[in-house]
Amino acid sequence: MNDTLAVEARAIEKTYRLGFGARKVVRALKGLDLKIRPGEIFGLIGPNGAGKSTAIKILMNLVQASNGTATIFGRDVRMREARRGLGYVPENPTPYEYLSGREFVTYSARLCGVPSSELEQRVKESLDRVNLTRAADLRIRRYSKGMTQRAVIAAALASKPKLLVLDEPTSGLDPVGRRLIRDLILEERQKGTTVIFCTHIISDVETLCDRLAVLLAGQCVKEGTVASLLSGDAPKLEVVIAGLSAEALGKIPGTSAITPASERLLATVSESDLQGVIGAVIAAGGQVLRITPLRFSLEDMFMQTLQGFQGPAVGGEIE
Ligand SMILES: Nc1ncnc2c1ncn2[C@@H]1O[C@H](COP(=O)(O)OP(=O)(O)OP(=O)(O)O)[C@@H](O)[C@H]1O
Ligand SMILES: [Mg+2]
Repeated sequence: MNDTLAVEARAIEKTYRLGFGARKVVRALKGLDLKIRPGEIFGLIGPNGAGKSTAIKILMNLVQASNGTATIFGRDVRMREARRGLGYVPENPTPYEYLSGREFVTYSARLCGVPSSELEQRVKESLDRVNLTRAADLRIRRYSKGMTQRAVIAAALASKPKLLVLDEPTSGLDPVGRRLIRDLILEERQKGTTVIFCTHIISDVETLCDRLAVLLAGQCVKEGTVASLLSGDAPKLEVVIAGLSAEALGKIPGTSAITPASERLLATVSESDLQGVIGAVIAAGGQVLRITPLRFSLEDMFMQTLQGFQGPAVGGEIE
């Protein structure tokens, strides 16, 4: 079995120097480790300035790490061969706007070494996949933001990459476009492509990603499968009750977050208290109408992680 990791980053540090005499220092990454397996859809989340795009740019060899090493399919990211089979959608793409979408995708595919005999077909397929065929011969300067984003995504797909790196690919896209990106990522998973997906839309990470990392102030503070990151909390249930006043329900131990809802009451109860609460509700003359598990979402986990963090959540550390 080939157990080479698709991406491995070890103790990556990145310090940007700014200002007159480069005296101001921004510590964007502070010892980042990442391991991404082949075929995995890997989510990268974190607040603004956490270092996500810096990490991605280091993997793409667009930014040099100050310390640490990174490899793509076992090759140092600084080697030319490491960039074969890469598709990259940057967070603020600026394609050549005097080219048409078709010309831009053709140009990108050529640069990625797509053979001339396959070029036309590949470009057509890629434009089709992002629904840009009708506008393919219009210059990019006439495109809307979402159309430009689609052209850049088509360019990243044209080389049939082994590793697809998407830095906020849904920004600027309408709901149809967002759905398209989700479907596209799922199709790539079927093909065995490794995908790094950086986004602020946490529900997309929850539905699409096999594993994810949460970056905070240049460090990875949580990493694992979506399920493992959500299983830490004790399961909670929502119980719908009738025939009791909110006051009476509030007196029953184990009930919390009591909310009235059209002649009924909703209460949050932990799994361990459930039997006691049901017994007490019935004894007090009430009825339990429905019990639904309350799912702790990735969004809740993200907010909790931010709350528990001591330091500047937004932006790198400036010294
Ligand atoms: N070229 C640069 N020069 C100086 N500082 C930079 C540069 N690029 C990024 N930084 C700083 O590094 C830190 C991390 O930025 P980065 O773009 O990696 O964050 P991010 O997690 O992608 O944020 P966002 O969610 O807003 O895209 C920020 O404090 C940012 O100001
Ligand atoms: Mg970014």
